[in-house]
Amino acid sequence: MKTINSRRDFLRQVSAAAFAAGAAPSLLSWALPVARNQSLGFPDLAVPGLDLPGEDGMIVRSFRFVDLETPVEYFNTWLTPVPHFFVRNHMHEPSELSAEDWRLTVGGESERPLTLTLSELLKLKTHSVVNTLECAGNGRSLHRPQVPGVQWGKGAVSTARFSGPRLRDILQRAAVKSSGKHVMFRGLDEVPGKVPPFIRSIPIEKAFDSDTLVATHMNGAPLTKHHGFPARALVPGWIGAASCKWLTEIKVLESEFVGNFMSPGYRFPDQPVKPGDAVRPEDTHPLTELNVKSVISGPLNGASLKSGKVSVHGAAWAGEADIVKVEVSTDGGANWNRATLGHDQSHYAWRLWTYEWKAKGGDYSILSRATDSRGRTQPDTPAWNPSGYLYNAPDQVKIHVA
Ligand code: MTE
Repeated sequence: MKTINSRRDFLRQVSAAAFAAGAAPSLLSWALPVARNQSLGFPDLAVPGLDLPGEDGMIVRSFRFVDLETPVEYFNTWLTPVPHFFVRNHMHEPSELSAEDWRLTVGGESERPLTLTLSELLKLKTHSVVNTLECAGNGRSLHRPQVPGVQWGKGAVSTARFSGPRLRDILQRAAVKSSGKHVMFRGLDEVPGKVPPFIRSIPIEKAFDSDTLVATHMNGAPLTKHHGFPARALVPGWIGAASCKWLTEIKVLESEFVGNFMSPGYRFPDQPVKPGDAVRPEDTHPLTELNVKSVISGPLNGASLKSGKVSVHGAAWAGEADIVKVEVSTDGGANWNRATLGHDQSHYAWRLWTYEWKAKGGDYSILSRATDSRGRTQPDTPAWNPSGYLYNAPDQVKIHVA
């Protein structure tokens, strides 16, 4: 039997065992980062992690690679508590992550390539951004005809306050050359079989935006494992795939990264397409920012309510634009009424909204539709595409009032 020679060895072995246990109740799996992180000066690490897939009422879309959807009734707080924040993984989460051993390398088109430890990263000036993160595939199951891929309902979207150093401060330290036009992120995911690693890039302009972060914290606490501990990219207003988790490498490139998660993954046809149309790769572009969209979080589809006052409520977001209006229809889209927008707001974050309705007995189809500061309104028919990205038709629930 292997002996444990030091506290460090002990922690390493506990870590390996805990992460290998995978689906086992994993308070243990967080015991290691807690101990190490405290030594690195994280203030208080009662990590509010969600350990078992499906715990806390999350909808499990995949057990193989943890994919958890937030039930819409949880869209009732402006900031989503971390255990209720959706999770999207393309492959296995890193089985061993240690705050002490983790390194972030920064190089490529750079005069001064550098490597940062977590304690060095945590010493950099931090900035916070409240961001609504939405998976490009959110709502995929609602496209008609249906398309293959994870059959997300409405809840592959959540909102949190992300904090960490600005990416541009790190890039400036690395002295990016004028030839640098794109910034690539590599995650530490464990790649099963022949699946290509999770690597994507963003254009240099977005990388230098003052709100693009290397986030270490979410809602004031260090990132949990599911959300990219110890650091992730946070590219606000853009599809979730832009925000690489378990970040280990930042590389400045002369041109867009070429790889599975840039092409064929996460691309959208340049022109509208119909089911069955052949779409040539050169007639597509990479997905960047999110659409304008709203979701009804109550009443729930299929609800049976008493007549009288009913509060129809939900959330609406628009990527890099702001929500200016949410309308609610209680008659299947024939007439629309203005909802009241919640007072919590921040660029890139969703707005909660409410419409107070006096309901009489009957069966109703209730819809919500948002409009943003660019004049975009949710279209009656969303742009169908072969990968089922960016579904954004008005939301709809059917209810009965007694
Ligand atoms: N980063 C890595 N390394 N691996 C991944 O599979 N998934 C991406 C992105 N970053 C992913 C990743 C996708 S598709 C989304 S929608 C977001 O992470 C989801 O972030 P979350 O799990 O914190 O909600």
